Amino acid sequence: MTEAIYDQTQDEDIVSRIKLLARERDAVILAHNYQRPEVQDAADFVGDSLGLSREAAKTKAKVIVFCGVHFMAETAAILSPDKTVLLPDMAAGCSLAATIDGAQLREWKNEHPGAVVVSYVNTTAEVKAESDYCCTSGNAVDIVNSIPADREILFLPDMFLGAHVRRVTGRENIHVWMGECHVHAGIDPENINAQRALHPGAEFLIHPECGCATSAVEAVSSGAVDATGVQILSTEGMIRRPAISDSEEFIVATEVGILHRLRRENPTKRFIPANDRAVCAFMKVTTLPKVLASLQHMQHRITVDPDTAAKARRAIERMVAVGGTPTPLSLDPSTAEDPGE
Ligand code: 13P
Ligand code: SF4
Repeated sequence: MTEAIYDQTQDEDIVSRIKLLARERDAVILAHNYQRPEVQDAADFVGDSLGLSREAAKTKAKVIVFCGVHFMAETAAILSPDKTVLLPDMAAGCSLAATIDGAQLREWKNEHPGAVVVSYVNTTAEVKAESDYCCTSGNAVDIVNSIPADREILFLPDMFLGAHVRRVTGRENIHVWMGECHVHAGIDPENINAQRALHPGAEFLIHPECGCATSAVEAVSSGAVDATGVQILSTEGMIRRPAISDSEEFIVATEVGILHRLRRENPTKRFIPANDRAVCAFMKVTTLPKVLASLQHMQHRITVDPDTAAKARRAIERMVAVGGTPTPLSLDPSTAEDPGE
C-alpha cells in the first residue's frame, strides 16, 4: 500500500486562499484545541470551548468559520445571532452531547420538580434552552456552590465531571446524567498507571471528562495515589500549565490534538499522551479544503430558532460571565493557585 505523501506546499496554497477569502468575506476562523494541526495553524484564534464562545461573542467579523463541533458552533450562533456561523462539515458531532436531547431532559425534570438544571457546555441548543445554568469544567464547582444547598440539582451530561463536582462540593442532592464521551472514556486508570511507571517525574494533566480523572480524585482522597503532580484542567488550562510549572515532562490525558499546541508553545518540554489512540473523529473531519469550501460557498450555516436561542442564551451568558473566574481544580496542594480555565 502506498502512503499518501504530505505536501506542505499544497497546504500553504490553501491557507493563503483561505486567508484571502476570509478577508473578503469579513470572516474570523476559530479552531478548537483538538483540531488538526494545520487547521489550528490557519485559524485566527485557537482555544477551549469557553474561549471560543467568548471570542464568538466579541468578534466584530460578520462571519465566523467554526472549526470545532456542532454544539460549539450552535453556542456561537446563540451568542452572536446577527453573525453568520459556518461549520465546515456537518458530520462534526459530539458523542457526549448526543447522550441527551430536549425531550429526555424534560422527562428528567418532570421526575424532579423544582430541581435546578446545570448543563455542561457539551449539549445541544435545545438542551441548553431547558437548563438554568451552563457550565464548563473550570466553573462547574463554583456554579453548583452558588445554588442554595437545599435545592436538588440535575447535572448533565458528563458522569465523570458530575462525579467530580459531587465529591468536591460534598452535596448529596446532585443527580448526574450517565453520559460519557467515548474518546475520554477510553483513557482509563490503566493507561495512566502504565505511563506513570514509565515517566515517574512527569506531571499529569487530566481533562475532567476522562474516566481516569474521577478515579484519580477518588484514589487521591483515599490516599492510594500521591496527589503531587496531578492537575485536572480544561483544554486551555492544560495549554497554560507547562509555562508555570517546573516540570519538564507531562503526561497528557485528553484528546491528542492538544499536543500540537502544547509542543509548539513549550518547545523545551516533553509531552506524552496517556493514550495515543484518544482521537476524536468528529474533531478531525474538518480539513483545510473543507474550511476553504466553507468560505467559498458560505456553508454550512448554523442557526438556532430565536425562541430556543433566547432561552439558551441566559444559561450560556451565566457561564461566559462566571467562566472568567480562575477556579483551581488542582489536586496538588503545592500548586493550588493554578488557573483551572
Ligand atoms: P474544553 O471545554 O476543555 O475545550 O473541552 C471540550 C470538549 O469537547 C472536550 O472533549
Ligand atoms: Fe465530544 Fe468527546 Fe469529541 Fe469532545 S472529544 S467533542 S466530548 S466526542
